Amino acid sequence: MGALSARLGGRRPAVAIVLGSGLGGLADRVAGAVRIPYAEVPGFPPARVEGHRGELVLGSLAGVPVVVQSGRSHLYEGHDAATVALPVRVFAELGAGTLVVTNAAGGVRRSFAPGTLMLIADHLNLTGRSPLVGEVLAGEPRFPDMTAPYDAGLRALAREGAAALGLRLEEGIYAGLLGPAYETAAEVRWLERIGADAVGMSTVTEVIAARARGLRCLGFSLVTNPAAGLGAKPLSHVEVMETAGRAGGDLVRLVEWVVGRGTGTGERGSGS
Ligand code: HPA
Repeated sequence: MGALSARLGGRRPAVAIVLGSGLGGLADRVAGAVRIPYAEVPGFPPARVEGHRGELVLGSLAGVPVVVQSGRSHLYEGHDAATVALPVRVFAELGAGTLVVTNAAGGVRRSFAPGTLMLIADHLNLTGRSPLVGEVLAGEPRFPDMTAPYDAGLRALAREGAAALGLRLEEGIYAGLLGPAYETAAEVRWLERIGADAVGMSTVTEVIAARARGLRCLGFSLVTNPAAGLGAKPLSHVEVMETAGRAGGDLVRLVEWVVGRGTGTGERGSGS
């Protein structure tokens, strides 16, 4: 924290943005950027997945002070949930009141073609892990309410932004799994039955920690492929990255619009 604060020179990000696979383009939109490799932040896990850069980018986006986490760590890399959630807790300490999370995901809802943007309405934490297990950290309740982790006001703003930009925005439930193998076709049929619309290997851990800290959360999935068994082809990370690269620009524009229009109050809402 001290090392990071020193690099910030008194700047206080209002919004923290976590970038998923192939969505690194948002980091290039940050004005007055100060880039800090994770290796220079004590305790930060290195980003090791292809397509993830591994740096914090501090500056302003649409005139709002932000910190962008370009490259996240995942449970499937062997990190525990507290390590995966560490950046979010650091952002809360730095004063961020809002967390925007993005990810690449498989489409479980059958109408979701590759390139579909999905606003996360709620999630299913199927990782079997929580960043809140263990000692209760200062500023966090033992049993945080998770009735509505994704802020209703921010979701309304995202819908407004999509309409203004002429983007189609679906809305649905994100299922977060441990990975790293993609799902079996049977698992995808099960996900469909329990109400999932998209499936991935991130996001839920960060959002749980963010809600424990009282941050307002907004999440987007970029559907890169039909989930296993729903498409004609086997799944591949290369294809996920290609689609994310192709369709990621729309999500970058939407996040920038939303940040510029109202996430920057620094208020820590109820999430309802
Ligand atoms: N499953 C899990 N994670 C993913 C997928 C998927 O189909 N696509 C991109 N990330």
